[in-house]
This record gives sequence, C-alpha cells and structure tokens, in this order.
Amino acid sequence: LSMFKEYFQYKGISFPELIYSAQGLREAENGFRVRDDDIFNVTYQKSGTVWMLEILSLIRSNGDPSWCRTVPNWERGPWYETILGLRMAQGNRSPRIISSHLPIQLFAKSFFRSKAKVVYTVRNPKDVLVSLYHFAQIFRPYKEPGRMDQFLERFLEGDGECRGGGGWHCSAPTWRAPGGGLATDPRPYSPPPQDLRGSIQRICRFLGRELEDQALDAVVANASFQAMKQNKMSNFSLSPSFLLDQSKKSFLRKGGAGPGNW
Ligand code: A3P
Repeated sequence: LSMFKEYFQYKGISFPELIYSAQGLREAENGFRVRDDDIFNVTYQKSGTVWMLEILSLIRSNGDPSWCRTVPNWERGPWYETILGLRMAQGNRSPRIISSHLPIQLFAKSFFRSKAKVVYTVRNPKDVLVSLYHFAQIFRPYKEPGRMDQFLERFLEGDGECRGGGGWHCSAPTWRAPGGGLATDPRPYSPPPQDLRGSIQRICRFLGRELEDQALDAVVANASFQAMKQNKMSNFSLSPSFLLDQSKKSFLRKGGAGPGNW
C-alpha cells in the first residue's frame, strides 16, 4: 500500500492522493453550491471533528439517535473536499451537515455569499499533535509519522506531510483572522468538554435550534465518548481497511486532554 502514500500540491498545500484530487479541490472551491441552511463542521484534523459531527447530527434529529445509529458519520456529514465526500455532500438532503478540514482560503467560494453557518472546533494543538501522531500510524493515506521528536519538528514547521490540508497554522489562525468565518460572527466559542451540556446548548442557540430538556439530555448522552465508541456508525469500524487499519489502534483513542492523554 506504500505506493498510495503520495502527496500532491494544491495551491501550496499538500494533500494525500488516496482521498483527494486537484479536480475535486477545484470543484469544492469553485463549483460547490452552498445552501443557506448548510451547517459546516470545520476543524483542523484530530480536533474533535467526528465528535462535533455527532453533536450536530443529534441536534438535527432533535436528540433522536436513530439517524446516528443507522447512517455512517461520513455520510451524515461528508468531508466535501474529498473525492468521495463531494458527491455525498452534493446529494444530501437539506439541512446538510458538511465537514471540512480546509483552510479558509480554499473554502467554497459560494459560502461567503450564503447564510450558511460554520461551527469551528479548536483543540489544544498539543493534544492535536499527539492524536495525529497515533492517527498517522493507522490512516493509510498518510506517511508513517516516524519518531515523535521528528514528527513534532515537522508539525511545528507546518509541514503538510502527514496531514491533508496543510499544517495547524493553516487552519485555526486563518479561520480566526479578521475577515475570517469566526471573526465575522458575534458568537465565537470553543466547546469545553468539561461542560458538554452547556456547550451543546450554546451550539443550539447559534443554530437557532433550541431543544427541550429531554432532547438536550439525549444529545449529551449519545455524543459521549462511550456511546460513540459503541456505535459502529460513529467509531469507524465500518471504514474499509484500505483507508484505516484499526487492528493496531482505534480511531476513538482516548478522548481526553492534557498530559494524562499523551
Ligand atoms: P484522541 O486521539 O486524543 O483520543 P477528529 O474527529 O478530528 O479526527 O478527532 C479525533 C479525536 O477526538 C480523538 O482524540 C478522539 O478520541 C476524540 N473524540 C472523538 N469523539 C469524542 C468524544 N465523544 N468525547 C471525547 N473525545 C472524542
């Protein structure tokens, strides 16, 4: 499979060619038609993308977990810049949830003329580094991460080698910069895991989808690390092995933060 571990450059950022193509990225940027009721789930990778995807899916379903238990997360909220995700996103019914790791300068142009919303999740880059180091060992499109000290150096340099869509520096800071998605919105936030319920409530308010107490409880319960680990539609156990090798480690690794997590 090593022959697939090739990268190409698109506008100065490297992408692994097993899941991205230049044509797909061009279409995501220039051709993708954003709808006003789209909700974008944007992150730098390993920052809690699928966790936020689960929260957004459950809010969309008013706390009812059936959608999350019957449809894989990558279909519920496809990564629209990937080869497979683009078609899924185009075909999904509104209101769509669309995931992305793109830096803002490569984002769908039509987004900036729309009323669509972005929920951007930020995670402490120290935790991101550790999570990515483990992930790069099981995600087939990425090169082997090598030793941690070397990996750390490359991470700090913003090198895109083990990471589709550029380094951390290309993502969080670009989305926060003046004129960026978050800065134009008066309600920026990053959900602290310590207060999951309160964070979900704030997300609901931002989306204009306030939930009854019971529905909110159901979102909290079904978006927990344990619930997601047990749900085969959310734990990537259905992911084909040419993409993910979970024989060594699982995608939902520890789900914590800080030194205890490293
Ligand atoms: P760890 O590798 O530190 O465990 P992404 O979805 O952006 O790839 O991020 C994956 C990280 O989010 C993993 O971190 C994963 O365990 C964590 N995660 C996913 N769902 C979670 C949840 N419900 N609660 C806490 N962490 C979660």
